[in-house]
Amino acid sequence: MKRLEFVILHSKYGTYSHVVKIANIELPDFPLLLAPMEDVSDPPFRALCKEHGADLMFTEFISSEGLIRDAAKSVMKLDIYEAERPVGIQIFGSEIDSMKQSAEIIEASRPDILDINYGCPVKKVACKGAGAGILQDIPLMVKMTAEIVKSTNLPVTVKTRLGWDDNTRYIVDVAERLQDVGIQAISIHGRTRKQMYKGEADWSLIGDVKNNPRMKIPVFGNGDIDSPEKAVEYGQRYGVDGVMIGRASIGNPWVFREIKHFMRTGQHLEKPTIAERAAAAKQHLLMSVKWKGERLGVVEMRRHYANYFKGIPDFKAHRMDLVTFMDAPEIVAKLDAIAAEFGDYIVT
Ligand SMILES: Cc1cc2nc3c(=O)[nH]c(=O)nc-3n(C[C@H](O)[C@H](O)[C@H](O)COP(=O)(O)O)c2cc1C
Repeated sequence: MKRLEFVILHSKYGTYSHVVKIANIELPDFPLLLAPMEDVSDPPFRALCKEHGADLMFTEFISSEGLIRDAAKSVMKLDIYEAERPVGIQIFGSEIDSMKQSAEIIEASRPDILDINYGCPVKKVACKGAGAGILQDIPLMVKMTAEIVKSTNLPVTVKTRLGWDDNTRYIVDVAERLQDVGIQAISIHGRTRKQMYKGEADWSLIGDVKNNPRMKIPVFGNGDIDSPEKAVEYGQRYGVDGVMIGRASIGNPWVFREIKHFMRTGQHLEKPTIAERAAAAKQHLLMSVKWKGERLGVVEMRRHYANYFKGIPDFKAHRMDLVTFMDAPEIVAKLDAIAAEFGDYIVT
């Protein structure tokens, strides 16, 4: 597919422009966003995604209650680095006062954006009225958003779902009301809370939000983007201003540059070799150890190896070593050995 076709089709929706703006933050045309992901989108992983083309990234969600109580785990998640800008810090909570107080704490960390999580479906969050739980009380959602917007100088954005369940897919109206109280962009995951992560994301309502003539802020689509074709196809079909990518980036930060290359040329970029995969995993590990300390850095990297080395035949023994070794230098040596053994091999 040629870039020209992409431009023409995209502009059919009347949304094409060369720059997407969130308040004063300028993003390239059709930006690619790294989704906030708990225990995944931390500074080491974000550094890799930035290096490989992510245009806007978010921290994993941070509990407002944890933040205002100065809980070490929540405070550590505020760490952001100059090289990763623009970056948003995401918070969740069910109490307006706690959310406002945590907005103040976040402002002191100087992110580019404050993002509110109204999409987390997990019981311990949603059933306490936070995350997607607030989709059961839209007036509260609007009030909370208005209060947060008033209490901070940061641009406020929202990430949410289509609704609580199939009977409450009110996102078109909700997005407009949130825009009216001052949010500067919205990212929409095309599932309801009830769906959790099951089934296929339904982007038709995301398209309806974007095509609502009253909507002026950027609308980003999210859910199941896992290939350059899908990013382009969904961009065209639903007219969104950009796409947010979550799971497809885990162990695969190259997804951003692959999509960009495809958008530009209509051709597929060569996939990374195993040597490149091993080098990225090593970089990820070393940054994790530096940021979290050796024990936690080593242990928390374990969830990533299966994704970095997916689809390699006869890899089981190597993977076992990667997830059982406790010593960072030993794992680095293992990753170097994997690079030497598999070299230019590419998983297609
Ligand atoms: C491991 C994991 C952790 C997640 N944590 C968060 C989070 O902290 N905040 C949030 O808004 N969404 C979170 N999500 C949801 C993603 O941001 C995204 O909406 C969802 O995965 C759908 O996008 P995808 O199909 O591209 O993965 C998480 C998803 C995964 C898989």
